[in-house]
Amino acid sequence: MSVTVRVPAKVNVRLAVGAARPDGFHDLANVFLAVGLYDEVTAAPADTLRVTCTGPDAAQVPLDATNLAARAAVALAERHGISPDVHLHIAKDIPVAGGMAGGSADGAAALVACDALWSTGASQDELLAICAELGSDVPFSLIGGAALGVGRGEQLTPIEVGGTFHWVFAVAEGGLSTPAVYGEFDRLTAGAQVPEPTAPPALLAALRKGDTTALADALGNDLQAAALSLRPSLADTLTAGTAAGALAALVSGSGPTTAFLAADADAARTIADALAASGTCRSARVAVSPAPGATVR
Ligand code: C5P
Repeated sequence: MSVTVRVPAKVNVRLAVGAARPDGFHDLANVFLAVGLYDEVTAAPADTLRVTCTGPDAAQVPLDATNLAARAAVALAERHGISPDVHLHIAKDIPVAGGMAGGSADGAAALVACDALWSTGASQDELLAICAELGSDVPFSLIGGAALGVGRGEQLTPIEVGGTFHWVFAVAEGGLSTPAVYGEFDRLTAGAQVPEPTAPPALLAALRKGDTTALADALGNDLQAAALSLRPSLADTLTAGTAAGALAALVSGSGPTTAFLAADADAARTIADALAASGTCRSARVAVSPAPGATVR
């Protein structure tokens, strides 16, 4: 018997970053939107904990105990007094180290898969608490849809989304380290008064209404300057997508994936083709949002 869970990527439609906290994290007002690019994690009984991965970026995925899928299995097993003897197979389609929460997605998916495989009967609150221990973005991967995350991004309030949004994601060559991007944010803002992070009401209203034009006007990412500082060539990708008709362009989370909001599915296709031909990215993917969270298939 095995259990397969499908889990979406995310884009941050507003990532407001406050000053560094004493614990090294940053207080956020982080508006997450799940997008329809998916990883699948399959959990099957095994003699010992084992992680395997397939997909175009599989070689970059750590298969040891640091993998968030493995850590999720261990955390759930410990709480329920069982041994985490499970084979976790990750079918990876979300860009690795791309600012789309691919690792977090695998953590949330493994948790849901092991919960079903072991019939632990954990409540949603227990699963969310384990997710928050695993990483700041993992709780959102569990619930999907759209949500405002505060604290370090793990305290979620779901947001209703009143329509479908069309996106293009330009996948960059190589990844960016999230701690390095936050470190660059600290360097760029040193000595400045960093305002309290907030989510603009106009953005939340745009999501609720499903209003693409209003969402385009309200997108924002406080980590973008830091990502561009570490990877200046991303400016060329942003320019190429905008020239091809994107309503708005931004770095996804800590990057280096860049996200382009399109007016409709046809525009998204046109932008993706232009980006792929531009030579400014490795590949371009279209996806719609919102998407459901980690779900047993
Ligand atoms: O929570 P997670 O393990 O995903 O965080 C990875 C790194 O990103 C942290 O070690 C920290 O450097 C940075 N981070 C942060 N503030 C947050 C979330 C993440 O500084 N709210």
